[in-house]
Amino acid sequence: MMDCPTATPLHLLSLQLGFAKNWRGRRRTRNLCIPQERALDLEKKQDDDGSRLRKASSVAKHQTLISKSSRIDREEGLPPLVSALKASAEQNAAAFHFPGHNRGRAAPSSLSNLIGLRPFIHDLPELPELDNLFSPQGPILEAQIQAAKLFGASETWFLVGGTTCGIQAAIMATCFPGQYIILPRNSHISAISGMILSGAVPKYIVPEYDHNWDITGAVTPSQVAKAIKELELEGEKPAAVFITSPTYHGICSNVREVSQLCHSCGIPVIVDEAHGAHLGFHPQMPHSALQQGADLAIQSTHKVLSSLTQSSMLHMSGDIVDRERINRCLQTLQSTSPSYLLLASLDAARAQLGKNPEIIFDKPLELAMEAKILIKKILGVNVLDMSSFSACPAIDPLRLTIGFWPLGLSGYEADDILDRDHHVIAELVGTQSITFAINLGTCRDHILRLVSGLKELSAHYLRIQKSKKSVDDGVCAPFDDICMCSTPRDAFFANKRRVSIKESLGKVSGELICPYPPGVPLLIPGEVITKRALDYLLDVMSNGAVISGASDPKLCSIVICDV
Ligand SMILES: Cc1ncc(COP(=O)(O)O)c(C=O)c1O
Repeated sequence: MMDCPTATPLHLLSLQLGFAKNWRGRRRTRNLCIPQERALDLEKKQDDDGSRLRKASSVAKHQTLISKSSRIDREEGLPPLVSALKASAEQNAAAFHFPGHNRGRAAPSSLSNLIGLRPFIHDLPELPELDNLFSPQGPILEAQIQAAKLFGASETWFLVGGTTCGIQAAIMATCFPGQYIILPRNSHISAISGMILSGAVPKYIVPEYDHNWDITGAVTPSQVAKAIKELELEGEKPAAVFITSPTYHGICSNVREVSQLCHSCGIPVIVDEAHGAHLGFHPQMPHSALQQGADLAIQSTHKVLSSLTQSSMLHMSGDIVDRERINRCLQTLQSTSPSYLLLASLDAARAQLGKNPEIIFDKPLELAMEAKILIKKILGVNVLDMSSFSACPAIDPLRLTIGFWPLGLSGYEADDILDRDHHVIAELVGTQSITFAINLGTCRDHILRLVSGLKELSAHYLRIQKSKKSVDDGVCAPFDDICMCSTPRDAFFANKRRVSIKESLGKVSGELICPYPPGVPLLIPGEVITKRALDYLLDVMSNGAVISGASDPKLCSIVICDV
């Protein structure tokens, strides 16, 4: 309490009891703001002092209202932000605010007939009782505190721009223009845009690559150590180390050793944990990035957990990274009109997980195991496991990646068949494989449908003996021969011109082009365009991959830097 002189019993009380109503005075009491890490301490203190505070009578009017709303919260057991949203939407308000659908009254019927009016009724703006994402003091603060507790963070930020904006903010908050960041070359596109925004200079690591699967694996601590050493020889020290763990395919890196190594040099570790919000919640799962000592971990709560698409969380641990810089960067990157449906869905997903964190994944894990056992018995298909990657310390048991090359099928062909004939829809399709995501909603029927689809596919293609696809045929590691001519930021802002794809060979890319999914850029602004990268792009495109970022979607031409 001491370093927050304006905090009052009301503030303490409201922190503890919830904020569903009567936060209208918030704008008048802005400097009551308690930094979130302080609030975490306070929360603990309030656990001790709670009953005394609950009886305090000096703030009768406010207390009555807050107690009333908190009674509703407690009775219904709703998470704080969900509860605040409910209470706010239930008010009989004469609404003269945005959004213009006016709490559903003017909802376009084509959509409301589909999803009903309730999403519109709860699609509210930043009303005082709903708190403010960029200066949280009410239900958003409380929801973030509860998330931080569950995920083991010192502070958690809710994101409405996905993990994409969290990664961009993390890079901007750790790297000043011209400073180095060590990262794998197959990082998600958001890490590249993070460097464009921050002006950070990449020092790439090329992770392990398996030709059979056409999949990249883990980053090793020794690769990170080598990169730090090489920079040291040039008189440089990286401002941050960025790694992706787990990858889209569930492959984990040894975040613990990377963190120990980096911390011994005072370097913060950022982990793109977009695919790992569930990690660490079950003994059969790999540990989470924070459990292994990462400083920042950004998770797509919407990917494996159950929040709405686009909602993510940025977690911080320790104090190497300046929280104020994170705040500023997030405020720069996110909408000033964050969706409360997204924010409340984060709160709800946290509450869902927090109810039974030790057992909630029992069933999905069981189903994943059952699927793997059944699929391994099918001839002609392979199941990805750790044996393909010597440097991989763990793999996400809820990711199921199946290879089809022994049947002479690409991942794209197999995906078409599974979708068309069995209506089995995968998460990620690659040249050699398909990846299926198993989650809290996965049911046995769907697993069995997948298995029977694979059995049929295998029987058919074993019978017709399609010529086996050579794994080296058009499929090779696309990242091995990187030559960077300018930083992503300089290239992004350089003068550019368009040339034919043939002419582009050996020139400096002016575009960020990546097959999506997985969203890993093949061409990054500032890099020399290689034959290998072009061949790979054309190969995956002819196989049906969507190419994002290319100004000519047919890839007949490409934009290069005029250097
Ligand atoms: C490895 C990785 N990082 C980051 C992201 C971005 O996450 P989001 O979609 O939540 O912005 C993705 C998205 O697919 C991803 O695969």
